[in-house]
Amino acid sequence: MVQLFILLVANCQPQLSYNGLTTAIEWDNYSFFILGNRTFIQSGEFHMWRLPVPSLWRDIIQKAKAAGLNTISVYFHWGLINPRPGEVDLTGINDYQPFFDAAKEEGIWVIARPGPYINSETSTGGIPGHVAWIPGDPPWNLYNGELRSNDTFYHAAWQDYWTGVISLISKNQVTNGGPVILLQIENEYYNGPGQNQYVDQLRQRAIQLGVVIPTFVNDAGEFDNLVNDTDLYGFDAYPLSASGCGNANPAIWPAIPTTWRAYFDATVPGKPHFFPEFQGGSADNWGSTGGYANCRELVGYNFQRVFYHQMWADGATAENFYMFYGGTTWSQLPYSQGYTSYDYGAPITAKYGELKLQSLFLRSFTDFYMTDLIKTDTTTVPNVFITQLQNPLSKSSFYIFRPNSVATTNTTINFQYNIGQANTLVPQNGASLTLLGRDSFVIATDLSFGTSKLQYSTASLLTFLELDGSDLLVVYGYTGMPYEMAFELSGAVTQIITGPTQVTGKATNGTYILNFSPSTGVTLVNLTTPSGQDIAVLIADYNAATQIWQPTIAGRGNFVNYVGMSASTPLIVSGLYLVRNASLDEQNLALWGDVGENTKIEIFGPSVIASLTWNNDLVQTLTQTGTGTWQAIIPFSTPLVSLPDLESATWRYRDSLPEIQPDFDGFAMVPANQTTTTSVFPPYYGEPWILYADQYGFHAGNLVWRGTFMHNSSTTAPTAINISSSGAVNYAASVWLNTNYLGASDTRARTNNNTFPVSDESLIDGENTVVVLQDHMGGDLSGQDMCCTPGGRARDLQQPRGLQGYYLGGLYGERAGWHLPGYDDSLWEERTPFQGIAQPGVGFFRTTFQLDLPENYDIPLSFVFDSTIGHYRSQLYVNGWQMGKRIANIGPQTAFPVHEGILDYHGINTVVLSLWALGNGTADRAIPSFKLVANGTYAGGIQGISTNNPDWTELRGNFGVPL
Ligand code: GAL
Repeated sequence: MVQLFILLVANCQPQLSYNGLTTAIEWDNYSFFILGNRTFIQSGEFHMWRLPVPSLWRDIIQKAKAAGLNTISVYFHWGLINPRPGEVDLTGINDYQPFFDAAKEEGIWVIARPGPYINSETSTGGIPGHVAWIPGDPPWNLYNGELRSNDTFYHAAWQDYWTGVISLISKNQVTNGGPVILLQIENEYYNGPGQNQYVDQLRQRAIQLGVVIPTFVNDAGEFDNLVNDTDLYGFDAYPLSASGCGNANPAIWPAIPTTWRAYFDATVPGKPHFFPEFQGGSADNWGSTGGYANCRELVGYNFQRVFYHQMWADGATAENFYMFYGGTTWSQLPYSQGYTSYDYGAPITAKYGELKLQSLFLRSFTDFYMTDLIKTDTTTVPNVFITQLQNPLSKSSFYIFRPNSVATTNTTINFQYNIGQANTLVPQNGASLTLLGRDSFVIATDLSFGTSKLQYSTASLLTFLELDGSDLLVVYGYTGMPYEMAFELSGAVTQIITGPTQVTGKATNGTYILNFSPSTGVTLVNLTTPSGQDIAVLIADYNAATQIWQPTIAGRGNFVNYVGMSASTPLIVSGLYLVRNASLDEQNLALWGDVGENTKIEIFGPSVIASLTWNNDLVQTLTQTGTGTWQAIIPFSTPLVSLPDLESATWRYRDSLPEIQPDFDGFAMVPANQTTTTSVFPPYYGEPWILYADQYGFHAGNLVWRGTFMHNSSTTAPTAINISSSGAVNYAASVWLNTNYLGASDTRARTNNNTFPVSDESLIDGENTVVVLQDHMGGDLSGQDMCCTPGGRARDLQQPRGLQGYYLGGLYGERAGWHLPGYDDSLWEERTPFQGIAQPGVGFFRTTFQLDLPENYDIPLSFVFDSTIGHYRSQLYVNGWQMGKRIANIGPQTAFPVHEGILDYHGINTVVLSLWALGNGTADRAIPSFKLVANGTYAGGIQGISTNNPDWTELRGNFGVPL
């Protein structure tokens, strides 16, 4: 009945149902339906704002599509879009219309997650500084307004952002022909008096702005929060913990959760089991020892196999991997504990193969979208946890095998098991199923593909396609491990094997059984019968399987590139680094993708193919094989990549701490002269001035405080200066009296109370200057300090940064625009960052170089600092964008990737380093080395990347800032 109804809907315009929701997105207890099609939402998270080059967004979309995903989930960043009260900027890097358009064109749905609060390891979870410090709602609240609540001032604060961002999302809903299918409200939020009301206010406003797709919340775990406050509910799961993965021990895993299915069934009966975030990697923190390499190992291929399969076992049919592509938390966007890279150990850089294998399976075998739990079995095979799922209509079953415990296990278990409608003990040939210590596999039984029927396969299913009237099933397994497959096939079967794997076949009573152990590469098994019932099986070893691509071919009408709508998948390509796209026009197969070496490929596709183009060039080597497949060599020629040697480049230097000079003119600083605060964290002493940077509109970056006091021989000489500074863990502060460096607070504590002795000689008769330079480090995340913060949860976002009558500003070099291209440094002293500065202080170093990299290649570049430990902090600015921050005594990041688009690959580039020396040792006052390196060379990639880097004249000169 359900399916009949679906067909009807698919042919109609989406309607609005009685509650105002569109019928374009529906669900039952098994899964979602998109435009009438039962859909397994297989999604990856991507933040456009972490890749601030709009022309590269399509690159990520294409890589998601090629991995077999059908959806991308995106956070929006309130602080970037609404940086000042009343200003909503949806232009430039905030203009997401090209992203929505590209997603639609490529055939990817979008889950929109505009917050307003997003967490996401970004400063204050995305809440702009001007909002974090809103006043309270008098008279009942003396302090700052309660963020993320129905507080009057907070309510007023989100209106502009929400109206702007929701209008954009609304315009791109699937009902308007766009790709957006779901809208998340808030993030990881809680039940509470003003909180449920707030979530409702956000949702109602979204509806007013035209939202007709379902809304949902993302609970922070199985916590029953806001379950019925929106249309749908999901929770996020990070079984290996969400941050600090650089210090974790990859050999130790926690137990695999077994509560997910029961929790969903009890909490949201009748709704799909939906994970708006499931661990796709992990965030790393300042000071981690292993960095992202360690995270990638911890949350690696084994984790994907065991935990993602477990999610399936618990009935998930909507899963979003956070992150698919991590990117860069550039400038001052990181939260207090996060460093610049948001690599996240995400699958686009590693683990892509396993994600693709799982996603193509899900894309191809739609019987999996509707299953009931038949049993979990933990007793038949000691130490093995087995889940059987079954499609109630087709009776296909899926048996998911995994070790009972994976805490530390590394043992291999061999066994046989009864499966399928026929209850067959497999393998029938007497061999064993093998479960490796930290692995998992799925056995499908009684499964139709095309017009053929698989009785079972102990090899993993990848995909299937119809090839000129016969069905081709693609399977894979580990090299050397035995597998068995059984097909319904009657009559005399002729078996032809092409490829390296030895395959034996045996016919009994209408069943044809194959046994094999995959050899390296792909092997085609053609089974033909006199009745014309033909089946082909392509067997790949695991690694070869990860090199198999199944691009979509556009159909007709609307949503032409969406699988499940009108797109088709009539061919596979084996043996390439990346296939982004394909088209089949008349007899020409056109493929687009990336390749890093001469590559032999094989194409399994319809017989009409007569020619092949690769990235628009005709491939001359195409030949057809005896079995009807095509082979070709995709050529690669190594281009000349010449990069500048930054160590022998000319650098120019200028001191960036003129504030310590007695005659400093106060350039671009604001008076810090407020005497009252609504902060719940009271200053300790030093009345009357309130020295909290956020109170003056400084919400990030390096902060310079400058104050003066009078002294002469008739007053008692101070013997010490006491500074209580407050930042986040990992902040630091340096203190000067007149031009004398007094020292640093750099303990990795949240606040420091330092007493710096003052000698008589360092005092001036008259006006004395005290300068404090501190690192803001970005805001905290909600809940970070739940244990110890007065006032509760929302207060964590309002931790002050500052000192407890000064002038306040950012780094002088930033105020003056020395980090920008086009600034005239010709009169600056010639000096390199490797020579550094003479004493603790701040210097800016500038250089420029020309790049002229070959066209039609993807050549990722990184700037790499030396890993030597030194007591300095350095910010890297590339063509005006702050693309990195190195803290050389905390680490761990030394390599800072910078994309084409920020870098001009065909022009002049300006690179600037700030150097804040906190100590007086040689390693504290200079950067030992700094290089530009290429991280690979691939022919292909996205072409026509535009650069948009405003220069000094535009950003400073036009405002009258002196050179
Ligand atoms: C989730 C949160 C995300 C991100 C993630 C950890 O709980 O929703 O925004 O912070 O944790 O990387």
